[in-house]
Amino acid sequence: LDNGLMRTPPMGWLAWERFRCDIDCDNDPQNCINEVLFRDMADRLAEDGWRELGYVYVNIDDCWSSKTRDAKGRLQPDPKRQVLKFPGGIAKLARYVHDRGLKLGIYGDMGTYTCAGYPGTTLDTIETDAQTFAEWGIDMLKLDGCFSNSSVQEQGYPLMSKALNATDRPIGYSCSWPCYQGGLPPKVNYTILGEICNLWRNYGDIEDSWDSVLSIVDWFTDHQDIIQPAAGPGHWNDPDMLIIGDYGLSMDQSRSQMALWAIMAAPLFMSSDLRTINSGARAILQNKAAIAINQDPLGIQGRRLIKEKSGIDVFWRPLSNQASALVFFSRRTDMPYRYHTSLKALNYTKGTYMVYDVFSQKVQPMLKDTTDFVVSINPTGVVMWYVFPAAGWQAEAES
Ligand code: GLA
Repeated sequence: LDNGLMRTPPMGWLAWERFRCDIDCDNDPQNCINEVLFRDMADRLAEDGWRELGYVYVNIDDCWSSKTRDAKGRLQPDPKRQVLKFPGGIAKLARYVHDRGLKLGIYGDMGTYTCAGYPGTTLDTIETDAQTFAEWGIDMLKLDGCFSNSSVQEQGYPLMSKALNATDRPIGYSCSWPCYQGGLPPKVNYTILGEICNLWRNYGDIEDSWDSVLSIVDWFTDHQDIIQPAAGPGHWNDPDMLIIGDYGLSMDQSRSQMALWAIMAAPLFMSSDLRTINSGARAILQNKAAIAINQDPLGIQGRRLIKEKSGIDVFWRPLSNQASALVFFSRRTDMPYRYHTSLKALNYTKGTYMVYDVFSQKVQPMLKDTTDFVVSINPTGVVMWYVFPAAGWQAEAES
C-alpha cells in the first residue's frame, strides 16, 4: 500500500501470542488485556533500548473491546471493566504511547465477530470504525477475518483500505485476508494485496513451539516463488509474531527465528513479556546486524537457495550497497554439522568478500569466491552472515 508507511518491515510488540484473551483482570491484573499491560510494554520499549532499534509499535490484539457497540454504533473498550481495562479509553492510551515516541496499533475483524467473539466490522460499519480509530490516534490496524466469507472479505478489505486513507491519519494496514483464503493464487491475488495493504498474514497462527516455527518456515519457503516477489517497501508478507523470549524455543532456535524472519524481510513483532524477558532472548532480539538486514531499504525478501539432503538449508538475501545476507540453517537434531561450501557455489560473482558473523559478532577472514570454507551449524540453529565486497569496504573505510 502506497501510503508512505512501512517502507521497511514494521517492528514492535503485539499482545496476542503471549497474552491471548486473558480478560480476568480481577485475578490477573498484571497480565490481562487492559491499559496497564500496554502502558507497561510502552515503558519497556521506550526505556530498555527497543525504540532506538526500531521497535516502535505497541499493538493491541483481540479481546480489548466491549461485547457491544456504543449508542452511536461505535466500537468501545469494555465499559464493565473500565476501571481496570481501559479507564481513559483508547485515546488516552494512544497519547501515553505517543508521548514515549511510540505508535499504537489496534485489532479488528472483517466479519460479524472477531476470532474471540467480540464485535467485528461489517460492510456497513467500515467507515465508522476507520473514523473511530483515526479519532483515537491509532497508527496501525490489524484486520482479522473470522466469522466472514470470501465475498465479504473481497469487498471489505479494499473498502477498509479506502476508509483508512480517507481519514486524515496515516494508519498502517495489516490484512489477514490471504490467510483465510489459503495463501495462494488463484484465490489470493498478491497484486491487489500489495495495492491495498501494508502487510498481510499468509498462513496460520504461530504458537509457542519450535514445530510451529518450522511449519511456518516450511510453508514460506515451499511457496517462495509465489510470495517472495509480492514483498517490497510498503507491502510485506507476515509469517506472524516472534516468540523469542517465551517458553518454547531454545537459544539456538531463537537465533533461527530471528535470522529467518530477518532474511525473509518479515515484520518483527515481538510477543513476549518485556518486563521479565531474559538477557539471552533480549540480546537476540536486539542484535543490530540482524535488524539491519531485516530493515534493508531495498526491501527484497530473501529466498532459500539450497535445500541439502543433509538437512541444511541456505538462504540468501540481496541488500543495498552490493551487500547480501546468508543464513545457514540446520534442521538436524543430532550435533553441530560442518557444512562445506564456497561463495561461488552460492552464486557469488568473482571477487573478495568481507564476512561479518551476525551472532558471534565477529569479522571473519576475507573470502575469495572460490575459497572453500566450513561453517559449523548447531542442531535447529543457524549461522548468519552479512557479506560485502571487499572493494566496497575499502572505499567506505577511506571515505
Ligand atoms: C486469529 C489471528 C491471531 C489472533 C487471534 C485473536 O487467530 O490469526 O493472530 O489475532 O485471531 O483472536
